[in-house]
Amino acid sequence: MTGTFVSIRTKFLRVYLVILGLVLIVVAGITLTFLQSFFRSRQVDDLLKTREIIDQVLTESDFTESTSQSRLNTAAQAMDITIWFCTRSKTGNIEVYCYGEKGSAERERLQQNMTQHTQQQIISVLNGRDMEFTKNAFPEIFNESTVTIAYQQEYIDTLNLLGVEQKTMNTGAVILNLSTSRVNMPLWVVFGTLLIAMAFVSIIAMIMILISTNNIIQPVSEMKDISRAIADGDFSKEIAVTSNDEIGQLAEAINSMTNDLKELENMRSGFIANISHDFRSPLTSIRGFLEAMLDGTIPEELHPKYMQIVLDETNRLTKMTNNILDLTKMENGQDEVKPVHFDVNEMIIKMALGFEQRIEEKKLKMDFQFLQEKLFVNADIDKIQRVIYNLIDNALKFTREGDSICIETGVVGQKAVITVADTGLGIDEKSLPHIFERFNKGDASRGHDKKGNGLGLTIVRQILLNHGEDIKVSSKPGQGTRFTFTLPLAYKINLVEKK
Ligand SMILES: Nc1ncnc2c1ncn2[C@@H]1O[C@H](COP(=O)(O)OP(=O)(O)OP(=O)(O)O)[C@@H](O)[C@H]1O
Ligand SMILES: [Mg+2]
Repeated sequence: MTGTFVSIRTKFLRVYLVILGLVLIVVAGITLTFLQSFFRSRQVDDLLKTREIIDQVLTESDFTESTSQSRLNTAAQAMDITIWFCTRSKTGNIEVYCYGEKGSAERERLQQNMTQHTQQQIISVLNGRDMEFTKNAFPEIFNESTVTIAYQQEYIDTLNLLGVEQKTMNTGAVILNLSTSRVNMPLWVVFGTLLIAMAFVSIIAMIMILISTNNIIQPVSEMKDISRAIADGDFSKEIAVTSNDEIGQLAEAINSMTNDLKELENMRSGFIANISHDFRSPLTSIRGFLEAMLDGTIPEELHPKYMQIVLDETNRLTKMTNNILDLTKMENGQDEVKPVHFDVNEMIIKMALGFEQRIEEKKLKMDFQFLQEKLFVNADIDKIQRVIYNLIDNALKFTREGDSICIETGVVGQKAVITVADTGLGIDEKSLPHIFERFNKGDASRGHDKKGNGLGLTIVRQILLNHGEDIKVSSKPGQGTRFTFTLPLAYKINLVEKK
């Protein structure tokens, strides 16, 4: 493993936090933009209504009258803004009237802080320059952030000409000041609610992530522990995962791998135990005879006889070693099958001739039943020779005097079928399924042939498997045994033509 360890949970949380952050930015952005334009348009509507009221008051009555004053005050308070109405006297002085909750206090402040800047702002409005949502237009007057809307406005001016009151229209300036915090307040409320909702969702989601990742991490870490145990040679544990997902499949795969390894390990240790056992007995007798010859326990005249026994035992060891090596090669696919066309009947006769002496010694009857005179097959000649040799060898070993052996050949479908049958000892039901396993010598208590290693049939079956064929056995204890195997025919049989 490269790099530092980062838990699955941390990775999940990272991804989740990035997604959450993006969602928050997008949702907040869209919502706030939408709400801002919504509130702004509502404010504009409200301001337009206020403007209408102001217009009405100023153009229909003398604004200095108390009813006009209270109407302007009510309008300002209802909107939670301050309304300034500015006029210019004949002498050029600027007069500002303030309406709203803090109207009088503001007026006082204005009179005290009428700076050049404030004055210029008011004059420019009086001269016809509008302000549309201008930010902090009067920093000297308001100590909070403000937005200002200002415009020229006609009003009824009452002039006192030589003691006669005369009403004329004049132009003044209406300046509406809103506190920014009030403008933005709904937005902040929405944003705050959004944040609280997101925080709530985050907490729930994090708990769910912790639970769900736990469902992944827990079996994974169990699998890790068990894999380590397997690596250390402990196959006793099984993963108890029942989830119907990839984790469950992985657990199943590991469990089946553990079983395979367990079987392999049992086979390996059994194999070593068998080899050691089969090597030990000939080696012990070889050592025993050699020592006895050296220390004189066996007299010199008997040496040739015992030398022969030692040689036989050495041959047995060599045969067994070769069998093991050959079998390993065949199982690993290192011993390639080289098929040729040959007459299997002819081969059987030749092989049987080689056993003539042993057949005669045991007074056995040897019979051949060939369905046709020649039976050409396509197979590896040396290997099939070994198959037939092992089967006849077994038939000879596991028969009683006077028993008979019969070799039959024929064709079934597109295959050659060869049977080696004997009327010998047979194999008991319990041993029968295992006779093709390595080192299996059937029912050991019978002790037919202690010299065998139980490799012959394993090699026979492996050779046939490598040919893509198989072998079957049927047997009855005391009555005899039949081995039947198939081989590919050298030529295809055309059944139609045969008609
Ligand atoms: N024709 C048979 N009749 C009765 N039992 C048989 C016959 N052939 C095989 N068996 C049983 O199957 C066992 C396995 O046979 P296999 O040929 O593999 O081993 P083996 O003959 O004992 O030793 P090896 O062939 O290695 O010298 C035998 O030990 C025997 O018990
Ligand atoms: Mg054998």
